[in-house]
Amino acid sequence: MTIASDRLQAIREQVQHHLDKGTPEPLSAERQQELVARIKEELVRHNAVIVAHYYTAPEIQALAEETGGCVSDSLQMARFGHDHPAETLIVAGVRFMGETAKILTPDKHVLMPTLEATCSLDIGCPADEFSDFCDQYPDRQVVVYANTSAAVKARADWVVTSSIALEVAEYLADRGDKILWAPDRHLGDYVRRETGADIVMWDGACIVHEEFKARSLLDLKNVYPDAAVLVHPESPASVIELADRVGSTTQIIDAARELDNPQFIVATDQGIFYQLQKQVPDKQFIIAPTAGHGATCHSCGNCPWMAMNELETLAAVFERDDNEIFVDRELGERAMVPLRRMLEFSPNRQAD
Ligand code: 13P
Ligand code: SF4
Repeated sequence: MTIASDRLQAIREQVQHHLDKGTPEPLSAERQQELVARIKEELVRHNAVIVAHYYTAPEIQALAEETGGCVSDSLQMARFGHDHPAETLIVAGVRFMGETAKILTPDKHVLMPTLEATCSLDIGCPADEFSDFCDQYPDRQVVVYANTSAAVKARADWVVTSSIALEVAEYLADRGDKILWAPDRHLGDYVRRETGADIVMWDGACIVHEEFKARSLLDLKNVYPDAAVLVHPESPASVIELADRVGSTTQIIDAARELDNPQFIVATDQGIFYQLQKQVPDKQFIIAPTAGHGATCHSCGNCPWMAMNELETLAAVFERDDNEIFVDRELGERAMVPLRRMLEFSPNRQAD
């Protein structure tokens, strides 16, 4: 599937709009302490818990950990929100993560520091166009990445994250099913290469991972010959080819713990460095290059939408009326079906 050029232009403009907002000004230590204290009080008062992604700012990850919340990959975030008894989930991540939490627990309040925090994969897969695409392939199992809207999930048979994408595709291929994959073409390509599954693909990409460059990565490997290369599968095939391990954010952290290398070159959002350094303090982590020879990078290994999760917006999360996630009940019930399959899927077990 190739996106029409006017659609592509509209996506580029939306992405540019977010990139142009730039990085927030750093807070003074006093202001940071004041906000952290306020957030802690509010969490108790509202019976709320923070569910944060590894790409959020270090101070947000630290706060989630200190207050009994979670910091994790997108699959674990969904599981944590589903299982936790808090009445309110504060999702520090991007919008699809908040929507997933709301669909799985419709009776909880799900708040986000800002609903503007989206994802280029979500933007690049509008539900109406996606539904038309699916209609062309009625004999295929529709597998969508978690980085999609509730409406796209409602059209799917399966939702996967990068933690279980390979296993679900293998399971379907073994069953003789053909797959319609959306929206990330790099992840879909990787899954196809690894499993041999019969896949037709939507044409979407992550603007952060797409910028990692294989040629410059090879140069960096020469500078650090003892380093292992850890790559998120949203990256291009040429970068994945150079990887010692390919996996979700959690699998990248696990690899850093398990491998003996003194250094790691990491092809994913730089937010993960806080956890890598915390969990594996005696090793060195280097961001994979995003700019080729003479080229420029846009995101430079930083998701502009994850960066919208700031302490200031987190502290104001209970004061505003424009940051709660709502999902239409009927749509949510349809999206819940493939989402539950995702939560219940275990590679060693037959799912339905
Ligand atoms: P993970 O599921 O690996 O955390 O990935 C989410 C994501 O958005 C990566 O860009
Ligand atoms: Fe989406 Fe990429 Fe940001 Fe992940 S890093 S949330 S895939 S734009």
